[in-house]
Amino acid sequence: MEDYRRLARRAVPRMVWAYIDGGAEDMRTVAANRTAFDRWQLRQRVLTGYPARDDLSATVAGQALDVPIVLAPTGLTGMTHWSGEVAVARGAERAGTRMVLSSASTYTVEEVAAGATEHHWFQLYPWRDRELMGSLMSRAARVGAPTLVVTVDVPAHGGRELELRHGMATPPVLTPARVLDAAVRPRWWYGFFRYRRVTVRHLEDEGGVGAAVRSVRRQAGLIRVDLGWDDVAWMREQWAGRMFVKGILEPEDAVRALDVGADGVVVSNHGGRQLDGAPASLDALPAVAAAVGGRGEVLVDGGIRRGSDIVKALCLGAHAVLIGRPFLYGLAARGEEGVLDVLRILRNELARTMTLMGVHKLRDLDATWLIDTGGGR
Ligand SMILES: Cc1cc2nc3c(=O)[nH]c(=O)nc-3n(C[C@H](O)[C@H](O)[C@H](O)COP(=O)(O)O)c2cc1C
Repeated sequence: MEDYRRLARRAVPRMVWAYIDGGAEDMRTVAANRTAFDRWQLRQRVLTGYPARDDLSATVAGQALDVPIVLAPTGLTGMTHWSGEVAVARGAERAGTRMVLSSASTYTVEEVAAGATEHHWFQLYPWRDRELMGSLMSRAARVGAPTLVVTVDVPAHGGRELELRHGMATPPVLTPARVLDAAVRPRWWYGFFRYRRVTVRHLEDEGGVGAAVRSVRRQAGLIRVDLGWDDVAWMREQWAGRMFVKGILEPEDAVRALDVGADGVVVSNHGGRQLDGAPASLDALPAVAAAVGGRGEVLVDGGIRRGSDIVKALCLGAHAVLIGRPFLYGLAARGEEGVLDVLRILRNELARTMTLMGVHKLRDLDATWLIDTGGGR
């Protein structure tokens, strides 16, 4: 994954890299999302008669997936590579899993449905405008999205200082050096001009920088600081499929989500892009999983870069994981093939880790497979 990260860094302008790879303020939570995994060691049992065939399938939100890995919603994915969310959806389904389409995507829910074979999930922010939310939910339902993910950790945008430093603002601050930095990446540059997939297409139907600025500004204007559980309850009433609430770090909030009718939660700090200083998702996971019990499903994202990270998350109570930046690295470097390859790498690592541990099935993974080193805390 680190190799793909390096390739991705070279493939996109610095401004875009700051958007993909950056986080909030001092990026303490970005770092914590990774170091949290170091606390846990894996138990190695030998001669357990490991079955010759790997079965890594999991039922997530009522869907049978070949791997317990779902692709997280990421906004403005067409900036990473012109093929954007359509390529991500295709890569996901070729690996036997699904993508969550961000409401801030650069291809609409209809375009993704037309370009993909399977039904992918849809993510929505509880925005100010209920008419707009209602219309997006019906559009997602019409193309067959089985699951809605409501992201609740953006009552304001996180302080993305790296983005500001590199001119990734609305509108982008274009200096000659920044234009040159993009121009020396001809493949990216060509895709950018040829396809112009840089706007939030659900809010603006044309490409181009002016439209991008309008669509991103419009989205910012839709953010509400006074959101409440009644907004999520309203969304629950409008949506007939499964619903997950994403951005949960506290057990009490997980219980509230289930109380308003969610089928599960995503333990997430938005990849460290929102509240800097929030705990690592992996550290927040056990208490949330305990509070949810058997009432719903618990997914987790943040810092997953290895198959062994997935093992640890499943041991600590997750039904499956989401990955964000890793598939963006693959996409930036190689488009759809890169997304598929990232999923293949994680799948192989997951299978190998389980074989070496001597654990037979995903279902058998629980906290007894981990050794707590205390992580120095
Ligand atoms: C470039 C980028 C854009 C994102 N956009 C969204 C979004 O539109 N909606 C959302 O719910 N989460 C968004 N996220 C957060 C991801 O869904 C996910 O929580 C996070 O990336 C997981 O951490 P990881 O990148 O370490 O795997 C975004 C993340 C990145 C990296």
